[in-house]
Amino acid sequence: MIQVANVSKVYRRGKNEVRALDDVTLTVPRGQFLSVMGSSGSGKSTLLNLLGALDVPTSGTLKIDGREISRFPDDELSRFRRDRLGFIFQFFNLLPTLTAIENVILPELLAGKSRDELEPKARALLEQFGLTGRDTHRPDELSGGQMQRVAIARALLSEPALLLADEPTGNLDSKTGGEVLRLIREATRARNLTVVMVTHDAHAAEVGDRIVRLADGRVVGDDPVRVAA
Ligand SMILES: Nc1ncnc2c1ncn2[C@@H]1O[C@H](COP(=O)(O)OP(=O)(O)O)[C@@H](O)[C@H]1O
Ligand SMILES: [Mg+2]
Repeated sequence: MIQVANVSKVYRRGKNEVRALDDVTLTVPRGQFLSVMGSSGSGKSTLLNLLGALDVPTSGTLKIDGREISRFPDDELSRFRRDRLGFIFQFFNLLPTLTAIENVILPELLAGKSRDELEPKARALLEQFGLTGRDTHRPDELSGGQMQRVAIARALLSEPALLLADEPTGNLDSKTGGEVLRLIREATRARNLTVVMVTHDAHAAEVGDRIVRLADGRVVGDDPVRVAA
């Protein structure tokens, strides 16, 4: 589903050059849960932002289903982001003035769908994710784990094919983080989603099917996750 070929990303700051990604080549089949590990500054977020079409590579190509993301015309790019892609973040990125259910439906509401159509679906997702009765809570009335569950519901509402997660448990304690990881694992497996999750936490990475390791923008490891007997 994803083909990354010889991708480099160079940031220039005055005379300085930072090679955030350096000749990365990677294929991710549909339905795979890929964890990308690496220390801070190794290029994880850069890779995710390129996959989410939030940024463009300096060189190389990124293809989704055989088509190069950077060549998508504008209307197709916004459709790709809206319909095919879910994104979750370390700091949840919920709007503080909206309730849980309003946060979940907002992207689809902005895409022109009706509230009447979206709310039952959103409520079902929130219930499925253990948030029954929390629909009308605002983010500051929810725990970190609950906020991330709302964000996962928001990411999955449009039934995307690809979920990108940037340190989704980076702001959670290990117990809550473990629960959120299991939820991501189960919810994406049930939907046959392709997942790319970046993390600097070796334990979190093991929830995936495969772990790619980045160091200084290069792939330095690529291993299947061994399933415990
Ligand atoms: N917008 C930017 N401008 C300049 N340098 C950047 C920018 N974004 C990231 N970098 C640099 O690129 C490298 C990789 O960053 P990043 O992908 O955020 O790493 P990670 O997510 O693994 O911590 C770092 O050295 C970082 O400082
Ligand atoms: Mg990062």
